[in-house]
Amino acid sequence: MAIETRHLTADADGYAQAAEVWRAGGLVAFPTETVYGLGADARDDIAVARIFEAKGRPRFNPLIVHVPDAEAAKALVEWSDAAEILASAFWPGAMTLVLPIRADAGLSPLVTADLPTLAVRVPAHPVAQDVLRAFGGPVAAPSANPSGRISPTEAAHVTAGLSGRIEAIIEGGSCDVGLESTILGLAAAPTLLRPGGIPAEAVEAALGTTLAQHAEGDTLTAPGQMTSHYAPGARVRLNATSARQGEAFLGFGPMDCDLNLSPTGDLVEAAATLFRALHALDAGKAGAIAVSPIPETGLGRAINDRLRRAAAPRDVTP
Ligand code: TXA
Ligand code: MG
Repeated sequence: MAIETRHLTADADGYAQAAEVWRAGGLVAFPTETVYGLGADARDDIAVARIFEAKGRPRFNPLIVHVPDAEAAKALVEWSDAAEILASAFWPGAMTLVLPIRADAGLSPLVTADLPTLAVRVPAHPVAQDVLRAFGGPVAAPSANPSGRISPTEAAHVTAGLSGRIEAIIEGGSCDVGLESTILGLAAAPTLLRPGGIPAEAVEAALGTTLAQHAEGDTLTAPGQMTSHYAPGARVRLNATSARQGEAFLGFGPMDCDLNLSPTGDLVEAAATLFRALHALDAGKAGAIAVSPIPETGLGRAINDRLRRAAAPRDVTP
């Protein structure tokens, strides 16, 4: 049965209402600097289960827990020197740390899919910060999109995908970073589990070591477990130099195209624009999308990761 999805304002009143929904076991989508998250009380089994149901997530895949500061994270995971270095350098921000979960963390086992590790993040977005503080507890939140679809970088994307399936959406404008967080595994040697909003090079510089690369097919992967994970409705063709008949052309750098990720060739701008552009081309009913080559450095790695998934054969029902 459809529920009525309330639209909450990004102010003290909106945050109080969101916290109230979370306390009652409901779902609230909220902006972070990466993408909108679909949040629930991470200690509440039923609330967390409802996240999977609302997204149509085909299996229980572990979730990231959001807290307002590193102190709150330390109550949930076994802290380490590497965690301290990275948290000081990049939190609040677009970085998620995977660490051994503490025995007394008190979270629903659904959050970790019963793994011995937990993914935690301190988001920087002021709305995320304020609503987490208003709630005062850990919030489990995957991206607020139906499973297999493009992540939302605006409240309207969340409404289009999840209205009628969640209690509320906090209207907080567009997300600055526009790509999900960089996920780092710290339970063993520091490992890049998912490229994201903070370039791997910056993480390596802070740690003073090279990151181990996560190999596709390892037991536990970040969201690309299903290769087709960020799929728009339209087919996607990569490394295109021009559009073929029936294709919309998504450019990068100075060129003639239907939409441009960054006319000046700026990867930060391209990251922030990527999902919005895919949503827009999809809404415009483009049957196919051709995308210019994107350099494989800095944020380009995360952009290409998402684009490769968008272009992958559709082996998953959305
Ligand atoms: O930027 C982001 O990270 C956004 C915002 C809302 O914070 N969240 C996000 O969540 O992208 P989601 O669920 O779409 O992707 C999180 C991924 C999961 O797919 C999972 O594979 C990985 O994080 N993950 C979660 N817990 C893990 C764990 N204990 N070990 C390894 N990977 C984990
Ligand atoms: Mg996601």
